[in-house]
Amino acid sequence: MNARLVVLVSGEGTNLQALIDACEDEDYGATVVAVGADRDGTGALDRAARHDIPTFTRKVRDFTSRADWDQALADDCQRYRPDLVVSAGFMKLVGKRFLGVFGGRFLNTHPALLPSFPGMHGVRDALDYGVKVTGCTVFLVDEGTDSGPVLAQAAVEVLDDDDEATLHERIKVSERKLLVDTVGRMAREGWTAESARKVRLGQ
Ligand code: GRF
Repeated sequence: MNARLVVLVSGEGTNLQALIDACEDEDYGATVVAVGADRDGTGALDRAARHDIPTFTRKVRDFTSRADWDQALADDCQRYRPDLVVSAGFMKLVGKRFLGVFGGRFLNTHPALLPSFPGMHGVRDALDYGVKVTGCTVFLVDEGTDSGPVLAQAAVEVLDDDDEATLHERIKVSERKLLVDTVGRMAREGWTAESARKVRLGQ
């Protein structure tokens, strides 16, 4: 049976699109059952609508506390009974309540080689530091910022003439492939936590 994916988004949604496209192959092993967002009017929500995938939006500002927002987001996700929740460019940190339900099966993608350059500006920070190689990381989300156990990484060369936009675009090509490969393997083969930090794909 296919793994059920809920994908959380905030932006353009090219990672979401890559997952939707991968799920069209019945051997991939997963289906996007819903897309959740923290804001309206994004390309990602348009992509979900084009594929008739149900969507929900929860804005932090509509709640009196962050904890209430966190609970509402968890409830929305839970309605779709996901096996995995994927943060694909979702620009919010979830809290204890969300992780209480989805911890260990909530993954995120980050446009840098963690633990280097966590946070909102991973591409810019890598460029400013002057590294020659950066990349992308798919990891299980914990309570910190981009600090959970790493599932997979891919390296991307930094070119002399790169600016933030050109480098990010090149990273995103790798990121989409890494995310699709990792989610597919988790769906088909499962994963094993060997310790608090080490997770292996497969049983
Ligand atoms: C990705 O690079 C993700 O890692 C970052 O924002 C980008 C989202 O791109 N946080 P998209 O919305 O999937 O096109």
